[in-house]
Amino acid sequence: MKKPSPLVEITGTGRFLPDDIVTNDDLAEHLDTSDEWIQTRTGIRERRIAPPDMGAAYMGAAAARKAMEQAGVEPGEVDVIILATATPDRWLPSTACDTQALLGCSNAVAFDVIAACTGFIYAMSVAECYVAAGRAEVALVIATEKMSSIVDWEDRSTSVLFGDGAGAVVLRPANGSARGILSSHLGSNGDLADLLYRPGGGSAVPLSQQVLDEKSHLIRMEGREVFKHAVRCMADSCHVALQNAGLTVDDVQLLIPHQANIRIIAATAKYAGLPMEKVFVNVNRYGNMSSATVPVALDEADEEGLITPGSNVLTVAFGSGLTWGAMALRW
Ligand code: UT7
Repeated sequence: MKKPSPLVEITGTGRFLPDDIVTNDDLAEHLDTSDEWIQTRTGIRERRIAPPDMGAAYMGAAAARKAMEQAGVEPGEVDVIILATATPDRWLPSTACDTQALLGCSNAVAFDVIAACTGFIYAMSVAECYVAAGRAEVALVIATEKMSSIVDWEDRSTSVLFGDGAGAVVLRPANGSARGILSSHLGSNGDLADLLYRPGGGSAVPLSQQVLDEKSHLIRMEGREVFKHAVRCMADSCHVALQNAGLTVDDVQLLIPHQANIRIIAATAKYAGLPMEKVFVNVNRYGNMSSATVPVALDEADEEGLITPGSNVLTVAFGSGLTWGAMALRW
């Protein structure tokens, strides 16, 4: 198969993590849980929690500023902002528009993509289309999540899993460069929506006292079922994305999987055919930051020198929807 040439390059990455660290022991002070259970079942040791007055737009803008600085892009040069979030600052307007205002990107068109934990890969594929089609010279992709605002802090089966943070990348036309997006693969299955969702508080079941009393505006998850689908879908998606890129697993220098649970990461790597030495892991430090996990990991992997120019990087994610997707990149 002919190897595709990238049409779109990543020219900058950035991340933002709130300062406040909440350890498993901190959670065990008011929940029937333990550091031992959380570490054994999830690999999570601690997570960052944003202060009450810090929203997704603030965190997204902070990550975006770093990506723009690395890319040498001024706010006025950004043509499109595509922002993934499951935790918008408010229902109207989009968090992309709130972030645009914070950044001063007054020439950009800005909109949100909702695909939960797969949001970054979905947003990247939309941005790739914009840039490849010549509709944008500079695209800003942001994934930002304040998961602490949508978990039930009295539910030990979900609250211990999540954390807050944001990541961002700048995309530009590859113009003949060998670096950039090689391929992607996306999937979704709405029949399984109720495995991981927020039942109330939207237009189908508007916010009411009953919603608040039942806490149905907060995350509900069938953990074991989600686990099984996550591993299968992510491993399959990795194979398709690699095939579309004309690569094999042996060509991959680093797998950057969605960071939900170390056991899911290890099982996905195994079924995808990659040893753990080639897998990036930071779930121990941040927990599950939904769509933000992959861009935060990408920025850290770059900073740590784990990926260098020419590296083939495979990113993969899975989440509510259900949604999943993988993207092969040449760094
Ligand atoms: O971002 C994408 C979406 N999310 C995911 O990918 C998450 C997918 N699911 C998972 O990661 C795992 O299913 C969990 C970490 C959520 C749960 O791990 P598990 O090994 O599947 O545990 P379980 O749900 O089967 O629960 C086992 C036991 C239960 O007790 P019994 O019924 O065996 O007595 C739970 O009540 O562990 C109990 N448990 C806890 N115990 C202490 C559940 N949560 C906790 C907790 N601390 N925090």
